[in-house]
Amino acid sequence: MFSLLISLELGALLFFVIFSFIAAGKASKLVYNGTEKQLYRKTRKMLFWSVSLTLLAAAMAAADTMLAMTAHPLFWLDRLLVRTPLAVIPVALIWVSSFPRLRKLMQRTSGRTDTPPDVARRRLASEPAFIMPYRLAALCSLALFYFAFVPPIPFQWTAVTMPVTVLLFIACLLWMLQSRQNQLAAEAPLAYRPWRRRMKHTGVLLAAAGLISIPFLTAMENSRLPDRLSMMSGKLDYGTIGSSLLNGKQNQSHNHITKPSSSTAAAAVASIPVTELTGPRTGKADRKFTLTAQHKTVTLSSGKKVEAWTYNGQIPGPELRMKEGELIEVTLLNKDIEDGVTLHWHGLDVPNAEDGVAGATQNAVMPGETYTYRFIAEQVGTFWYHSHQQSKEAVEKGLFGALIVEPETNPSDPYEDITVITHIWDGAGMAIGADDTLQRKAIAPGTLVKLRLINTDDWVRQSYILTGAPFKVTAIDGTDLNGPTELQNVSLDLLTGGRYDVIFTMPDHPVFLRIGRGKSLGILMSKDGSGDIPKLPATTTFDPTHYGTAAETPFNAESTFDREFMMILDNRFAFYNGSFAAYDTINGAVFPNTPMFIVKEGELVKTTIVNRSSVEHPMHLHGHHMLVLSRNNEPVTGSPWWSDTLDVAPGEIYEVAFIADNPGIWMDHCHNLVHASAGMSMHLMYEGITSPYEVGANTHNHPE
Ligand code: C2O
Ligand code: CU
Repeated sequence: MFSLLISLELGALLFFVIFSFIAAGKASKLVYNGTEKQLYRKTRKMLFWSVSLTLLAAAMAAADTMLAMTAHPLFWLDRLLVRTPLAVIPVALIWVSSFPRLRKLMQRTSGRTDTPPDVARRRLASEPAFIMPYRLAALCSLALFYFAFVPPIPFQWTAVTMPVTVLLFIACLLWMLQSRQNQLAAEAPLAYRPWRRRMKHTGVLLAAAGLISIPFLTAMENSRLPDRLSMMSGKLDYGTIGSSLLNGKQNQSHNHITKPSSSTAAAAVASIPVTELTGPRTGKADRKFTLTAQHKTVTLSSGKKVEAWTYNGQIPGPELRMKEGELIEVTLLNKDIEDGVTLHWHGLDVPNAEDGVAGATQNAVMPGETYTYRFIAEQVGTFWYHSHQQSKEAVEKGLFGALIVEPETNPSDPYEDITVITHIWDGAGMAIGADDTLQRKAIAPGTLVKLRLINTDDWVRQSYILTGAPFKVTAIDGTDLNGPTELQNVSLDLLTGGRYDVIFTMPDHPVFLRIGRGKSLGILMSKDGSGDIPKLPATTTFDPTHYGTAAETPFNAESTFDREFMMILDNRFAFYNGSFAAYDTINGAVFPNTPMFIVKEGELVKTTIVNRSSVEHPMHLHGHHMLVLSRNNEPVTGSPWWSDTLDVAPGEIYEVAFIADNPGIWMDHCHNLVHASAGMSMHLMYEGITSPYEVGANTHNHPE
């Protein structure tokens, strides 16, 4: 519904721009008609343009009103207060002011003679009160366009006053010019000199372009990423202390203290460098792994070849399995990945220095270099690891793998444990690991089977459909759910980085896990591995908000929060590193102008995430798990739902909360890595933490 309404509004807006300019042009030219007949015809045509503009403005107003009736003010306040009036006011003026004159002119020219229009008719055809509403519509359409792509959100009148003042100023100027023309028309018929008009228009356009180019070029220059940039720089956002942001009082209670930082401002409190926030550096590791990053051509099960970037020569990299509480040591060696690599433990909340983000918690590991990570595997569950250096490219090409933490003691009901890590390989298509053909598995009836679903694809909503047996979703993003119930005909959808654990008991007939839209990619399980793919049922999408049973959590929606943040996801036209395009933004900006959320250790922090854009964003916070409190103002009533990669669909609003118990500088970004690499990324920073690392062209560090 939300997507439909915003597309309707945007579509109507674009047509409004085009139509209003045509209408304004036609209206301005009426006075040049040489005969009454022509004047009559052209005047009558203005009716069409007036009605079209009215319909478009009505469509916009209707879409905005519907939004206002169905969604949170953050989705529509600017639309209803700024955009609707910008369309409706000029159209209303057309009907109040232009239309009576248009009718009068039609009556007076209805003789349709070939005589030139007399003074009265010429005056009427160029009267400012007749022509200006059309021109105003054109001006307003430009303002509409501007506000659609640079939305004043969270809503502030100050963001509106400047553009509206400019608009009014130009309107006054045009009114004066039109009055002048009106006088001239009364004196003698105006000769239509197209070349002169064209020259005049070009002149005006050039002047306007010149005027606009100054702020445009400055913005372009300002957006260039510096050669070296500390991850600690950026706008600091201390959030709001106390009251809820969601009960309609957000304007009054919003007292964000946002100020530009210098590294000294951030460091003023105390200063612990992230380099000290390591896991246990000494002591014998319980488990050691070595991962060697290297180029390798890998053959998929179908025989297709992939030019991959690999860990240990395989795609995905080896599955790392460990037990809860173990001290893990992973040595990363970069053999020949020129761009450098790191290891980030996606979803595992390790100490900051072990988090593997180039430029924030370490330098990228360049060819020939090694780096050692040591941490205690504290959470049980399904995770994955990937390089967080040029992560868009690195993950796309294969620098990732599954990471499984098993409970300390073996489960009382043992299960067949199957990791399903899916990826679309460049030029080769979708595969489960490196298997791009149907997999068959022999599983004895009665066996408990656990599937660990991990979507590693960039920008792909992957659906996993299990048919042939009822199943339970036992974990989301590595955290167990409480009291999961049996599901059937439900599709499990994951965005990049998300995970689901699924459990079922093997029946004596085949069970099929289908992945993606195609019919035959998946895992067919049966007692001897043979059998046909069962027919696929119609499915609904799994919704965690009311699944399972509620349970005690360390805090909940009723808790008093020490700090509250607002995270608004949107698109807007902006510059990013010198190039102008529509970007996905966080609080109106792209990195490094995105805010940095500042917290103190021990605080209970709530964030309201709002997606005003037209696409989904899987938001991933490093180092913490967020408890989902509500979605679209509806409280989560099922099992506690802890997430590290939250799929925020267009039009959705989530309240999440976490305890600030893991000091450091943590990335918080969209895991559609194309978005992250275009600036949809920010940081959560603990007061008093500093980082000696830098990103930028003159460093090797490019985390996204
Ligand atoms: Cu999966 Cu910031 O990463
Ligand atoms: Cu995104």
